[in-house]
Amino acid sequence: MLGQVLLATSRSALVRRSVSGFPLTRKVVDRFVAGEGVDEARKAVERLTDARLTVTVDHLGEETRDAGAAAATAKAYVTLLESLRPLGLGSRAEVSVKLSAVGQQFDEALALAHAREICAAAAANGSPVTLDMEDHTTVDSTLGILRTLREDFPSTGVAIQAYLFRSVQDCRDLAVEGSRVRLVKGAYREPASVAHQSKGDVDRAYVRCLRILMAGKGYPMVATHDDRLIAVTELLADRFGRSVGDYEYQMLYGIRTDRQEALAGAGHTVRVYIPYGDDWYGYFMRRLAERPANVAFFLRALGGK
Ligand code: FDA
Repeated sequence: MLGQVLLATSRSALVRRSVSGFPLTRKVVDRFVAGEGVDEARKAVERLTDARLTVTVDHLGEETRDAGAAAATAKAYVTLLESLRPLGLGSRAEVSVKLSAVGQQFDEALALAHAREICAAAAANGSPVTLDMEDHTTVDSTLGILRTLREDFPSTGVAIQAYLFRSVQDCRDLAVEGSRVRLVKGAYREPASVAHQSKGDVDRAYVRCLRILMAGKGYPMVATHDDRLIAVTELLADRFGRSVGDYEYQMLYGIRTDRQEALAGAGHTVRVYIPYGDDWYGYFMRRLAERPANVAFFLRALGGK
């Protein structure tokens, strides 16, 4: 219930202004966001890759409504990738892109053009790009853009949200040679007509999708902090003869860092999703919505504790 309220307010301009303007908010946001500028993002990349982790960096922002802002987001990614290039990390440091931040909502062709610029800059680093998945109304468009991008940049990946009914079929379509699919539970408020609503149903749907991806020919990116799903992944890897390099785990910056390190220490590829930038509100509210304990942490910080 609290989660639903937080997801609803993640799109409220009024709450965005009040929360963003509160000085102590920043302290709490820092737990989930690497910083505002490219230098802070690069430092986080260096710190995590030094600790045997791999990363995917997200320039925060979504639902851009004009061409100028879309171009600025694409430019920010290109600048970020240029600043990472001297580190020579190749595919150990990729980027994640929300197509709505580069114009998808008002001009799909523009979003595709900007995504191409980002993929070209990433290719110059020897790294792929992964498309984040946003609310269910964007899925067809995102998968269409993915198909086109993959003609020139075959390693481009995409996130698929297990909570959507359609995702079982999307996973079947994508479980093919060369594809990279990041499986997530799903972080948006979706109606019962398109998505599972209860945690149990979402978890079962995750296992169905995971089974398809692990049995298929693509590269599964298992993005969850859920120990039970990590255990299921290990069973499926065993069953389908996948070794540690044939799939990877992904987790969010600042969440279950001990688990990230333990999996990496056991030889797994673990990719940490690092968000940076000043447009952190929507991302931050979704993280609060996922876990009531985060709200308590937030309120304690606002109270100065
Ligand atoms: P679940 O929410 O059940 O959490 C399992 C356990 O993990 C919890 O008990 C807790 O210990 C810990 N945990 C989870 N969330 C936490 C939090 N916020 N704070 C503290 N602890 C927490 N979604 C989407 O719709 N589109 C996308 O493109 C992406 N991309 C993406 C990339 C990566 C790398 C990850 C890890 C996740 C996403 N997501 C996403 C978010 C995803 O849909 C989902 O909301 C979160 O991962 C939380 O789900 P879990 O699978 O972790 O399970």
